[in-house]
Amino acid sequence: MSVPSLPTGLPVGHHRPRRLRSTRRMRRLVGETRLHPADLVLPLFVKEGLTEPRPIASMPGVVQHTEETLADAVRAAAEAGVGGVMLFGIPEHRDATGSQADAEDGILQRGIRLARAVAQEAETTTGRAPVVMADTCLDEFTDHGHCGVLATGHDGGVVVDNDATLERYASMAVAQARAGADVVAPSGMMDGQVGVIREALDAAGYSDVGVLAYSAKYASAFYGPFREAVDSTLQGDRRTYQMDAGNAREGLREADLDLAEGADMVMVKPAGSYLDVLAAVAEMSPVPVAAYQVSGEYAMIEAAAANGWIDRRAAVTESVLGIKRAGADVILTYWALELAGWLHDETFGGTR
Ligand code: PBG
Repeated sequence: MSVPSLPTGLPVGHHRPRRLRSTRRMRRLVGETRLHPADLVLPLFVKEGLTEPRPIASMPGVVQHTEETLADAVRAAAEAGVGGVMLFGIPEHRDATGSQADAEDGILQRGIRLARAVAQEAETTTGRAPVVMADTCLDEFTDHGHCGVLATGHDGGVVVDNDATLERYASMAVAQARAGADVVAPSGMMDGQVGVIREALDAAGYSDVGVLAYSAKYASAFYGPFREAVDSTLQGDRRTYQMDAGNAREGLREADLDLAEGADMVMVKPAGSYLDVLAAVAEMSPVPVAAYQVSGEYAMIEAAAANGWIDRRAAVTESVLGIKRAGADVILTYWALELAGWLHDETFGGTR
């Protein structure tokens, strides 16, 4: 019987990539990309005045936390070995300039203080605690729901005022640092936001507080469920400050600018529909690259799984693994806690 040959002239038997896929233990050995709980960041919402956690209908399993349950969630993240938490605050009072965003006792600052205290306690007792990060953006705090303050443009229309917003971000970042944030995360896509925040932090004595820049942030339909998560009042869209979906080169430029302004980490967001941009940023970036698997990406998999259309655990794992494979060092995902548990099982228990 003659063995068929490949175009290389070698018989097929010399080239059998399937050998490395033949058993579970072999596949495990040769895996190129591995997830680790420390790669993951859990986004958390804390809402002022809540007495019970409130479920977010479009994000099954995710809630708006009370201050008390926020602390519990941070404790659980610490126990699971999750690398970080990203806090979002939802205030009772909103106004045109988002005055609660930098108020000493604003809900986000209160949440940060709690998270930091829990993290510090975990650090002393177990030696393992998440980095405390905070969203540095005005949209949760303004009554109009935009990420910046508004002004009248040259044509008489309403515009989001870039430079007036920068002053608000600088003040917000300092308030977050004072409350105990390890990292502030400007997500508003205002030009110059990283530089202004870096200067303000340094001037206030917080040179050790880092900046995670949402560098390539696209105007995305996949933020839909997040609007419910933060009780957003936004009318219209954010297309004058967030990027158009088709633009990859522009994403690299945004990352370049943020690096020049002193970003400690850069981010691509959303993750799933922008893996090419993520890979390109990972290729050029001298600093760690984060990717945000956003609310809509979460909701889609949850909805399909709830219908029995996909295997939930396999789909979740694959979606996050794909983001890591594309080049993300840090992944923000609403599954961070659950996924950390699965990873622990796979390493030490082995259910699959
Ligand atoms: C802005 C912000 C948004 C998200 C994170 N930060 C909303 C937006 O830009 O419209 C979206 C996150 C998600 O959809 O999971 N503060």
